[in-house]
Amino acid sequence: MARFVLAACVIVAGPAFASDAGVSPRERILLDTGWRFHAGDPEGVDAALDYDVRPEIDRSTDGQDADTRPEAAATIDADARRVLKPWILPTGNAFIRDPAQRHTRPPGHPGGDHPFVQAGFDDSGWQAVTVPHDWAVAGPFIEEGPYGGMGRLPSWGVGWYRRTLDIPAADAGRSIFLDLDGAMSYATVWLNGKLVGGWPYGYNAWRVDLTPHVEFGGSNQLAIRLDNPPDSARWYPGGGLYRNVWLTTTVPVHVAHWGSFVTTPEVSEDAATIRLQVVVDNDGDRDARVTVASAIHALEADGKPAGQAVAQIAPAELQVAAGASATADGSVVLAEPRLWGPPPTQAPHRYAAVTTVRRDGRIVDRYETRFGIRALRFDPDEGVIVNGERIPLKGVNNHHDLGALGAAFNRRAAERQLEILREMGANAIRMAHNPPDPQLLELTDRMGFLVVDEIFDVWERKKTPLDFHLVFPDWHEPDLRAMLRRDRNHPSVILWSVGNEVGEQYTNEEGAAIGRRLHRIVREEDPTRPTTASMNWAKPDMPFPAAFDVINLNYQGEGIRQDPEFEGTDRIRTPPQYDAFHAAFPDKATMGSETASALSSRGVYLFPVSKQVSAPVRDGRGGDSRIRQVSAYELHAVDFGSTADKVFASLDRHPYVAGEFVWTGFDYLGEPTPYYDSRSSYSGIIDLAGFPKDRFYLYQSRWRPDLPMAHVLPHWTWPGREGEVTPVHVFTSGDEAELFVNGVSQGRKKKAPFEYRLRWDDVVYQPGELRVQVYRDGRPWAEATVHTAGDAEALEAMPDRAAIRNDGRDLSFVTVRVLDAEGRPAPTADDRIRFRVEGPGELVATDNGDPTDMTPFPSHERAAFSGKALAIVRAVPGRTGTVVVHAEADGLQSASARIGLDAEGDER
Ligand code: GAL
Repeated sequence: MARFVLAACVIVAGPAFASDAGVSPRERILLDTGWRFHAGDPEGVDAALDYDVRPEIDRSTDGQDADTRPEAAATIDADARRVLKPWILPTGNAFIRDPAQRHTRPPGHPGGDHPFVQAGFDDSGWQAVTVPHDWAVAGPFIEEGPYGGMGRLPSWGVGWYRRTLDIPAADAGRSIFLDLDGAMSYATVWLNGKLVGGWPYGYNAWRVDLTPHVEFGGSNQLAIRLDNPPDSARWYPGGGLYRNVWLTTTVPVHVAHWGSFVTTPEVSEDAATIRLQVVVDNDGDRDARVTVASAIHALEADGKPAGQAVAQIAPAELQVAAGASATADGSVVLAEPRLWGPPPTQAPHRYAAVTTVRRDGRIVDRYETRFGIRALRFDPDEGVIVNGERIPLKGVNNHHDLGALGAAFNRRAAERQLEILREMGANAIRMAHNPPDPQLLELTDRMGFLVVDEIFDVWERKKTPLDFHLVFPDWHEPDLRAMLRRDRNHPSVILWSVGNEVGEQYTNEEGAAIGRRLHRIVREEDPTRPTTASMNWAKPDMPFPAAFDVINLNYQGEGIRQDPEFEGTDRIRTPPQYDAFHAAFPDKATMGSETASALSSRGVYLFPVSKQVSAPVRDGRGGDSRIRQVSAYELHAVDFGSTADKVFASLDRHPYVAGEFVWTGFDYLGEPTPYYDSRSSYSGIIDLAGFPKDRFYLYQSRWRPDLPMAHVLPHWTWPGREGEVTPVHVFTSGDEAELFVNGVSQGRKKKAPFEYRLRWDDVVYQPGELRVQVYRDGRPWAEATVHTAGDAEALEAMPDRAAIRNDGRDLSFVTVRVLDAEGRPAPTADDRIRFRVEGPGELVATDNGDPTDMTPFPSHERAAFSGKALAIVRAVPGRTGTVVVHAEADGLQSASARIGLDAEGDER
């Protein structure tokens, strides 16, 4: 088995490194303000500005099972319509290896006569927006029709963004780039009426070169058109400039876009070899001779450099021909490196290489590459070994949306998600099924999560009528190389996934050939990490799995639709597959890239309670289609999935499996299986508002075995259920427990092998106190108590942090709970809460985690769901003082939360 040793990065501009005094000629400006937005094309434009002709949608696939076999692409009768594709394709040229395959741009500037792209156009009536911006998240929700899969928010359609760029006369002769961290989707960019380029895939980061069209010393009109197809996703994609947009300015001789690559071919505790390749572009018309040198700095946990450089990569002379590129390749041995590794047993130490490019002794560029030093290995029998230590993957899948904030990336919201996952004991994330915002990888680097970075959910075969398969033939290479070059310096990224449950699993050699091609592309861009593609259908004797380095199984490890009730179905049915794959591929590591897909609604308990440990959801069996909720006893999953308990048993029976990635960590917008009339999913361990469901504690009990903890369910407020059987289950890191109802023992129980919960299924409800005393190895270990609550009396408001930065981006998440007169949570309260913000703050959104709640996210009123609601608050940029968030509800004592504003503060 090959060793995959690596290091990695992120590029930021001009940091204050003590040893690199002097001004960098590189500038990177965040274009967050000054934008105007307009939904839709004006009359008469019709499809003239479309990227391509799209097939007619003859049938919506909304609501079909996630494991439906993907179909062949529909053929399109080409018509004579002019489309923009020939002008857009060349934007990908830098990521196409074979020069013969690169695209030549046709002459002219289609769309240039369109008023929306012209400087003179009056856009003062358009909506003023700040980027990142998701045009759909404010709603309203679309309650009728087949839109559940995409989240019932109006994400599809056309949207325009305009703003001006003042570029000083002094910049004449410099290179000016527009860098987009992601634009959803089919973007086309015009500057001063000239079509510059674009990029179809909404999840990738990309760049266009504005230089030829810039008026130096003037105001330049930027216009971006986005066009989200309907029926293009199985989950909520969002819409718009939903990630950061940057203006990057360099001199013509400069480090290329994502032009650095750090590897650490030898790593030990005593020394590490750091190899740094730097590509230098020469956009000028004269050959250039440059010197490239790099200083290595250790970074503090907050990302700031720790003192002087710890090593230097010796200056290398480089000849860069006009209009061409050249690569400097240097290395240095660093003694006693501080290694990057996942907590709690290791620490995520990071470094930065600061590269200086000099021409005639003058600095022409300075470029920072962040990375980590670590030895990483996938072992077929041990799983993932980081710096010599076996690290079982305790992972979750997450989609990119941030709940009530939609797809618009927010660093604090993402950090909060990671903090909640860390509290649960998670150490890994699979980016399902697309490249994340680059800031998320900075966070996973800093916090020490292990990441599976994934690029595609489909290849040539489609899952929805207008998904990525439409552009896969032209764009798979540029998209894959772009992700790899952007992300390959991140120490948190351990594995490249080139596909999720793609239809090519079913097309034998033909499908495997595409897999091998994608695998080869990865090798060329990053020889240090393995490849994978997640399989829910392919079997060990098929050609598909042989194409990749790591075996990633979705649900197949535990077995799919095994129960007799699925006999005769035409859906996937398969016995557990871990052993078969391990036997067929003894040199490859195996993991569960999607496990569980269990379903539940936080705080909703339905009766009767299944005696099975893992069962599908049906009415009267864990589900209630009238209220569209799934029971939080955590015993039910999608038809092809398994509950946490069943997955744990399967992993314990197959100890060579590297670990699991649960579907999903957080609920997400769209794909609301099993109730497609809802707005958001049921599969999260944590709900859409960020409130843990009961399952959170089941995972915590396994993933943090040394944390003394006990969690008891259900709640114990059941007026009308007196005398009825009300099963009680306990999730604990202990091994034995005794349950008491009003002090009366219900018996002491011990976990049997391959059991992960303690259950008392015959408890008869009577109001009062439910208490569990947990033991480990016979000694008291933890306890938990739940009381019957009285009538709702009061609200309580708790901010997650007492102070936030006043930059308008930092957020406070305020949890509001409904309490009884004794201060006990009222677990079924659904009071309508009104939020009011006083002082220099703004309410961004509210939520409660209820998948059926169609109240728009920006609403200042939100019903509590299972006794809780959430308000998300930010500062008015630049203001100081205290923000007070008031929560009020009829008949309840109101509550308020105070949040201080810091002008300073650290974005880390
Ligand atoms: C999987 C799929 C995921 C999601 C999940 C829902 O088959 O890979 O994207 O659809 O099912 O259960």
